[in-house]
Amino acid sequence: MIPAQTTNTLNKQPFGKTADGQEVYVYTLRNSSGVQVKITNFGGRITSILAPDKNGKFDDVVLGFESLDGYLAKPASSAYFGAVIGRYANRLAHGTFTLDGKTYHIPTNDGPNTLHGGTQGFDSKVWDAREVSTPSGPALELHYLSPDGQEGFPGNLNATVRYSLDSKNGLRIDYSATTDKDTVLNLTNHSYFNLEGAGSETILNEYIMLGADQYTPVDGTLIPTGKIDSVAGTPLDFRKPTVIGSRINDNFEQLKLAKGYDHNFVLSHPGDLTAVAALVVDPTSGRALEVHTTQPGIQFYTGNFLNGEVHGIGGVYRYRSALCLETQHFPNSPNQSNFPTTVLHPGETFHSTTIYRFLISHGSFAVAQ
Ligand code: BGC
Repeated sequence: MIPAQTTNTLNKQPFGKTADGQEVYVYTLRNSSGVQVKITNFGGRITSILAPDKNGKFDDVVLGFESLDGYLAKPASSAYFGAVIGRYANRLAHGTFTLDGKTYHIPTNDGPNTLHGGTQGFDSKVWDAREVSTPSGPALELHYLSPDGQEGFPGNLNATVRYSLDSKNGLRIDYSATTDKDTVLNLTNHSYFNLEGAGSETILNEYIMLGADQYTPVDGTLIPTGKIDSVAGTPLDFRKPTVIGSRINDNFEQLKLAKGYDHNFVLSHPGDLTAVAALVVDPTSGRALEVHTTQPGIQFYTGNFLNGEVHGIGGVYRYRSALCLETQHFPNSPNQSNFPTTVLHPGETFHSTTIYRFLISHGSFAVAQ
């Protein structure tokens, strides 16, 4: 049991050195209830979140590693554990898009497509870190300047990601960005959650609710077809809390193509930070996670590519032993004019906010502190 304290704290510890010798750090944010979030400035990654269960026992609820080496080693290095994803989260078909009449090419790293910003995305960059003060105490602000032409994207992009923790166990992530040329942008966080504790065998017994009436169906390379379909009558209908494993192996084409859930859900209240975008409940521990966002979409991914080869905090990371809830713009939006735009112009500031709030469920879906 972690002793309580009266105000938030933030401290900094060495975390390791990158292959090119840059020193990186891990920052620990703690609130008065003892919830603790660790973030490294290598890829802006959340490395650990300690949250209480129904008996007040704290466990790590995200997959991660104790030091930088864990993130650099293969195959963990390609799973984006806890990372900030940019410049374009999720997929770009054939690694290309056209903007203002010019065609851009981004390195492909996922079959014929680009995934999560190319081969050198924001997840592998060393971010500048500084402490900032907020009404709930110190917060961590990370900054990265992505130069014009990096991975083929146009414009110098100034990106800022701020992590703060409130007294009600909400981890708030505020993203902002500016550019000096028209560019495309999609930022998210790639934490893998298991509310029973990192290293627990499966997330298939956990319940999920998604605030989405529609989703974007994909082709065999996980690029949206461009259609926006209703979830009604499909195994992607999570408008009521449903056990994740109850339909995951159904004979439904979208589940076969994605090897499970790996889909972008179209949020029914885009831009509304008060709406619940997602709720996950683990009946064993009583932990619950509520997700709020200003983004229009959320990628629900059930760890279908985890295969037991990675050993991190809590144990071995097996097939479907964690889930991601990546708040985002829709995949491949730069090539899909019917999707909300991801273009950022000079003079504009991009802003988005996502809150991951840790709660306790007392046997029903009425979750409370
Ligand atoms: C994607 C998965 C991918 C994973 C990589 C997710 O955002 O949707 O298809 O395998 O990232 O870790």
